[in-house]
Formats: sequence, C-alpha cells, structure tokens
Amino acid sequence: MECAIREATSEDCDHLMGLIQEIADYHHLGAEVTINSQVLKADGFGKDPFYKCILAERPVEKGCQKARIIGYALFFYGYSVNHGRIVYLENLYVVSEFRDKGIGRQLLSKVAEIALGAGCVEMKFVTMEWNSRAKAFYTRLGAHDTTESEQWHCMEIGRDALQRLAQSRKEHGGDQ
Ligand SMILES: CC(C)(COP(=O)(O)OP(=O)(O)OC[C@H]1O[C@@H](n2cnc3c(N)ncnc32)[C@H](O)[C@@H]1OP(=O)(O)O)[C@@H](O)C(=O)NCCC(=O)NCCS
Repeated sequence: MECAIREATSEDCDHLMGLIQEIADYHHLGAEVTINSQVLKADGFGKDPFYKCILAERPVEKGCQKARIIGYALFFYGYSVNHGRIVYLENLYVVSEFRDKGIGRQLLSKVAEIALGAGCVEMKFVTMEWNSRAKAFYTRLGAHDTTESEQWHCMEIGRDALQRLAQSRKEHGGDQ
C-alpha cells in the first residue's frame, strides 16, 4: 500500500496524541493515559528529546487537504550491560482499517534502520499476553519471547513509590 514513512515533528503531536489514546484503548488502558500533546511536544522535540517517533502517512487524497497519519512507532535508546546500545520500542500502532497491508512492517523496518545507524544491537519491547496478533507479527519479523525463554517479569515503580524511594535516602542521611 502506498504510504510515506517519515519522522514526526512537533506539529504532529496533536494527531499523535489521538493515536496514543487509540492504542491505550486497544489495550484496555485508556483511563491510564495522563500525558497530553503539550507534554509530547516538550519531551520529544525540545532540547535533549526523550523519544523519537516515526509516522506512516497516506498521500493527500481527493477531497482532503492533508495527508492522513495512519500509524506510528515511538521508540527511545537504552543500554544493555550485556550487549551495549539498544533501542526500546514503546509503541507500534497501525489504524485498524490499514492493518495487514505491510505498514507495521515498514514502520518497524525504519526503526531498525535508524537504530542500527545509532549503533544499537538489539530491540526490546513488551506485548500483552492476549495480543496474539502482535506476538505473531513480531515473531514473523524475527522476535523471540524472552518471558518464555528466560522467565523475565516486567516490573515498574510508579510515581508515588518513586518519590518515597528518592525521599528514603535523604531520611537515612544520604549525601552527608
Ligand atoms: C501489530 C500491528 C502494528 C501490525 O501492523 P500491520 O500493519 O497490521 O502488520 P503488517 O501488515 O505490516 O504485517 C507484517 C507481517 O506480519 C504478518 N502478519 C500480520 N498479521 C499476522 C497474523 N495475525 N499472524 C501471522 N502473521 C501476521 C503479515 O503477513 C506480514 O508478513 P509479510 O510482510 O511477510 O507478508 C497492527 O496490527 C496494530 O497496530 N495492532 C494493534 C496495536 C498493537 O497490537 N500494537 C502492538 C502492541 S505491542
């Protein structure tokens, strides 16, 4: 299917925010989205950006004034003490009516190209247990499930616990 793959700009953040809400709803996590397009703009397009984003865009169609954004891949860089530079794929999303047309593959291929160019040797990401469609898609593109092979667990520390953790060191006399 004809579509352009390009890097997102700060002008895309309003639209991107809509797609982020769509993928969160798809994962039944819609109520957990707390960011907005201003935060996206500041975090992705200011000084020292926290993430990068690639868009899939349909060309301008008859009767439309603007090209339509139909998918995105949002990613950032990290570091593995075992292997060195890695890329972390936070989101890959294709609007439902455009799925199974090779757009997800094109987006991920572009991320791979950019990440390899930046010296990364590995891509990491998570999928939901029930998302067999995504798991099949990633497996077909060469991914393997480290939760099955290495028994990893995803863990996170939320904001409140993070603040308590930061505070705890001061309470125990840190930086004296
Ligand atoms: C997962 C997702 C990004 C894939 O994008 P897509 O554009 O539909 O996928 P593509 O059309 O590029 O498919 C790429 C390859 O996977 C294959 N594929 C697609 N669906 C498949 C399925 N259900 N089972 C096996 N293979 C599948 C395609 O045949 C294609 O292989 P080919 O290029 O060798 O023919 C898209 O379905 C999506 O946005 N899903 C909802 C959000 C989501 O689950 N995101 C991932 C969260 S971790």
